[in-house]
Amino acid sequence: MTALRCTGLRRSFGALAAVDGVDLTVAPGARHAVIGPNGAGKSTLFTLLTGTTRADAGVVELAGRDVTRLSEVARCRRGMSQTMQHASVFASLTAAETVLLAVQRHDGGRTGLLPRRRPALRARAEELLDEVGLAGRGDVLAPALSHGERKQLEVALALACRPSLLLLDEPAAGMSPAESARLVALLSALPREITVLFVEHDLDLVFALADAVTVLHLGRVLLSGTPGDVRASEAVREAYLGTGRREELFEA
Ligand SMILES: Nc1ncnc2c1ncn2[C@@H]1O[C@H](COP(=O)(O)OP(=O)(O)O)[C@@H](O)[C@H]1O
Ligand SMILES: [Mg+2]
Repeated sequence: MTALRCTGLRRSFGALAAVDGVDLTVAPGARHAVIGPNGAGKSTLFTLLTGTTRADAGVVELAGRDVTRLSEVARCRRGMSQTMQHASVFASLTAAETVLLAVQRHDGGRTGLLPRRRPALRARAEELLDEVGLAGRGDVLAPALSHGERKQLEVALALACRPSLLLLDEPAAGMSPAESARLVALLSALPREITVLFVEHDLDLVFALADAVTVLHLGRVLLSGTPGDVRASEAVREAYLGTGRREELFEA
């Protein structure tokens, strides 16, 4: 059984094949990273997997079930949850209220009609804030959180629907080294029942967290293997040539 699998996945924009026949297998419990130079097709692949974008061809399977034709919401109901590259939050809500909203939505949105459920849902929201390292920050208005804290909040929102698979698009984008380290700690501490697939630029984070890595280049899979395989690959080295990230990848 695989947590997530795609075969022959394709998506073009006009003449450009952004994702050009991608096969990917994510093992249950994996911390699987997708990397590649800018424009490799990482974000497009991500949106095809989450259902945000329709594939031109190919199949996406979630825990062995074909979800290719399912919407983002339907995939979410089957255990797939995501955080976006750009965190967006409601300006007028606190961190705790924001998480509570997500917990309520998962609960079926009936909470307004069932006041007795509220304490349990509040407790769950508290627990989630705690889990992502935001204990004690619940009363802060979401826009007043630091960039790193907003990302932590995003993870809490994604966890609210109790996913079996968590997908993150560049979770460390724009983070300071300290924030990035906190994120690694948070993701490392997630239970292994939650499989994690993440797209990431920050190769330090990739090598700190991933046990499997897929390298995309020009819309295709250049290599899938262990972090060690990736560091040792001449083809990957070539793909990163001239991007300024090569040194990060190979001289650590
Ligand atoms: N909505 C779109 N319309 C047209 N071209 C797009 C669109 N989204 C992505 N592309 C193009 O597809 C290619 C892959 O983009 P993307 O998936 O964002 O790569 P990455 O995330 O690896 O940087 C790029 O050449 C990009 O310009
Ligand atoms: Mg991208």
